[in-house]
Amino acid sequence: MAVTRGRVLVTGGAGFIGVNLAPALADLGFATRCFDNLTTGRRDDAVKAGYDEIVEGDVLDLDAITAATRDCTHVVHLAAQAGVPASVEDPLGDCDTNVRGTLHALLAARDTGVAGFVFASSNAPLGEITPPAHEGLVARPTSPYGASKLSGEAYCSAFAGSYGVPTVVLRFSNVYGPYSYHKGSVVAAFCKRALAGEPLVVYGDGTQTRDFVFVEDLCRGIAAAVTDGGSGVVAHLASGTETTVLEVARLVAERLGGVSVEHRPARVGDVARSASDISTARALFGFAPRVTLEEGLDRTAAWFRESGG
Ligand SMILES: NC(=O)c1ccc[n+]([C@@H]2O[C@H](COP(=O)([O-])OP(=O)(O)OC[C@H]3O[C@@H](n4cnc5c(N)ncnc54)[C@H](O)[C@@H]3O)[C@@H](O)[C@H]2O)c1
Repeated sequence: MAVTRGRVLVTGGAGFIGVNLAPALADLGFATRCFDNLTTGRRDDAVKAGYDEIVEGDVLDLDAITAATRDCTHVVHLAAQAGVPASVEDPLGDCDTNVRGTLHALLAARDTGVAGFVFASSNAPLGEITPPAHEGLVARPTSPYGASKLSGEAYCSAFAGSYGVPTVVLRFSNVYGPYSYHKGSVVAAFCKRALAGEPLVVYGDGTQTRDFVFVEDLCRGIAAAVTDGGSGVVAHLASGTETTVLEVARLVAERLGGVSVEHRPARVGDVARSASDISTARALFGFAPRVTLEEGLDRTAAWFRESGG
């Protein structure tokens, strides 16, 4: 496709969200370059996603990320250690990738003068709250992952303030959808276990809630933020709906087989409730999720069935 709006560097572009984001950016007329060290992401998926270029590299290598950013107009920084349990296990590793890696991506953006930098954050910086999560709450993370994402948010604010880098922080809720086979998140884990005929593992009693957003809706929001996000902004991208984990287990079982639920002890770092107020994203760049949980799970279950999980 001819470049009409610029070129977006997507760090972590070969991962779950990145491969869903490439088509959304192309739809808006952007050329896309994937930058990924392929630790959890897969080159094949990045190829299928239709990236114009795929660069294998590590955000911990400042020269490599700077070179990859050089002729790009925008950066979407997705590359991360993306799991709460892994961060509890290895907080230093989580800090390296998520704090130093984000600082490198911001330095590259500053030194190459990009027109926009979008950072993939999460609700995790907020910790234990009474929903809805929104941009005005004080952040009190309960996991190292929440702390490292909060640090990334702080550097985005600092780079907007000190160097004029136009940064947009997007706090994703619980994202689900196609290409999530390597994820340990609720829907992906349930789909994989259901297809294997195994009980769905629920940590705690299952009354904990999450805000499940379909990846296609999320990626439309990210792409809109690339063009219209502004600078120094924080916004939540989510469905805006609170659903219990047990309800999702029931909906997945309906689609992929009548399997049972196995309860295990609640995990350290997991919060009890999560749902987001998406009015800032709606006001700033017209974010409006379209896919219901039922439809999103139909499509996700079909994808897992076809891909073999
Ligand atoms: N999936 C969710 O529900 C969710 C929720 C909130 C926030 N997020 C954030 O969104 C982003 C994308 O998440 P995802 O679900 O696609 O995860 P993912 O693990 O599928 O993708 C992350 C990608 O980053 C790459 N990567 C990791 N370390 C790297 C490094 N040092 N250098 C270069 N590439 C590296 C991996 O190979 C992978 O392709 C992450 O920042 C994550 O924290 C995700």
